[in-house]
Amino acid sequence: MQKGVPFGAPFCIFLNGRELRYNPPMSEKKSTPEAATSSTWGGRFEEALSEVAMRFNASVSVDKRLAPQDIRGSIAHSQMLAKIGVLSEAEAEAIRAGLVEIGEEIERGEFVWSDELEDVHMNIESALRTRIGEAGAKLHTGRSRNDQVATDLRLWTRDACDETAERIRALQRVIVDRAAETVDLLMPGYTHLQRAQPVRVGHHLLAWAEMLDRDYGRLLDARRRLNESPLGSAALAGTTFPLDREMTARALGFERPTRNSLEAVGDRDFLVEVTAALANCAVHLSRISEELVVWSSQEFRFVQMSDAFTTGSSIMPQKKNPDMAELTRGKTGAVIGALVNLLVTLKGLPLAYNRDLQEDKKPTFEAFDTVRDCLLVLTGAIESMRFHGDDMRAALREGFLDATEIADWLAERGVPFRDAHHVSGRLVAKAASQKKTLGELSLEDYRAEHGSFDESIFAALDMETAVERRDVVGGPAKRRVLAAIEEFRLRLQ
Ligand code: ARG
Repeated sequence: MQKGVPFGAPFCIFLNGRELRYNPPMSEKKSTPEAATSSTWGGRFEEALSEVAMRFNASVSVDKRLAPQDIRGSIAHSQMLAKIGVLSEAEAEAIRAGLVEIGEEIERGEFVWSDELEDVHMNIESALRTRIGEAGAKLHTGRSRNDQVATDLRLWTRDACDETAERIRALQRVIVDRAAETVDLLMPGYTHLQRAQPVRVGHHLLAWAEMLDRDYGRLLDARRRLNESPLGSAALAGTTFPLDREMTARALGFERPTRNSLEAVGDRDFLVEVTAALANCAVHLSRISEELVVWSSQEFRFVQMSDAFTTGSSIMPQKKNPDMAELTRGKTGAVIGALVNLLVTLKGLPLAYNRDLQEDKKPTFEAFDTVRDCLLVLTGAIESMRFHGDDMRAALREGFLDATEIADWLAERGVPFRDAHHVSGRLVAKAASQKKTLGELSLEDYRAEHGSFDESIFAALDMETAVERRDVVGGPAKRRVLAAIEEFRLRLQ
């Protein structure tokens, strides 16, 4: 590796048009925030940035998460500069080796980040210069932090989409396994949170898997669109150096270079797309959570959450709270907030890059972190919860969930459905007033409402029969649910 600037030798970097003269302390190899305060500003500026402005300006506490992507992007850029003859092979190799070492130092948690160096890009570049000297100062040729940060963020988001999509798949797999296990359990299906018609538990669970399937698709769809390389757009208008943008795009796994330099540095709608997909996913997870909260209540008792995913109360010893579901529901607000945050940040920004865009990372990171945590925790909670089949079945006895069967029985025998519906309603009223179920009414009770009733009406009231007769595509009949499970399993492989 090429020898760097000797320890302690001052050097200059340019930041926001100011020349920052940096004097590394003699005793220390790495930059430290304390050391940086001894620097002096030059160039256009006569005064140093005020302390408050410096803190306000700095984003490194947030964007240091982009370090692996920043290093990857810089290596690709330097290799390309060597290929077009702007750097020598030796310089490119010094840059590569230096960046790899810095990356390792960051990973070990030994890298000292400095607010005075603003962001992840300047921190790494400055460390590279300390390490390898002049070659490090050539890295930024034909590049601006504007195309650099846009590139880093697309690389980061692409990985985050892949990881989140994989976690969605993992949750779907658990749900589909649990659906297979509960295909013979019946439960009330609800509308308006009122018992409506019987369904298979497995059918209900597959509904969750369906929601998540669209979330998965939306994330991967957004990922496809964001997979273009802004590198080479420079500050806004490209560069005079004959950069090979195809080469860097390929090296970074992008489909192609972006097509317009102004737009490439000013665009963040890829973040809007992914956070919208995440917000949708969070809303789905929240709705699933709401059902888990309701189902695990004493009023429902449909499921029991495992100890590993519930907490107790500090005052009420009997409590077992579905906190994971509640927190998932609660954290959804932050994800929706991230989407709104990004949209409002972008609204009204002229082309090309504006510093407002620095505020794009916090909501993006928060949205991904939150959704990934929620996915992980719900996967565990759903995998380990117990179904109370008897309580579900008991819930089918009250609420006249078989009233539709009576209307259908008549309609199948030629009675117009609206009239049949009316007859069934009168029978429900009759049963309710006698505190009976529909099955407990006598054939005479039925005949009093409609002459065509015969004994076969009682078989139609059976819940299992009611579910099995719903044998349409997407319905709860056993063979339909089993087919849906098979189809999911193929898709989730
Ligand atoms: N930290 C900045 C950001 O995240 C990097 C780009 C800064 N560009 C500039 N011209 N000041 O947006």
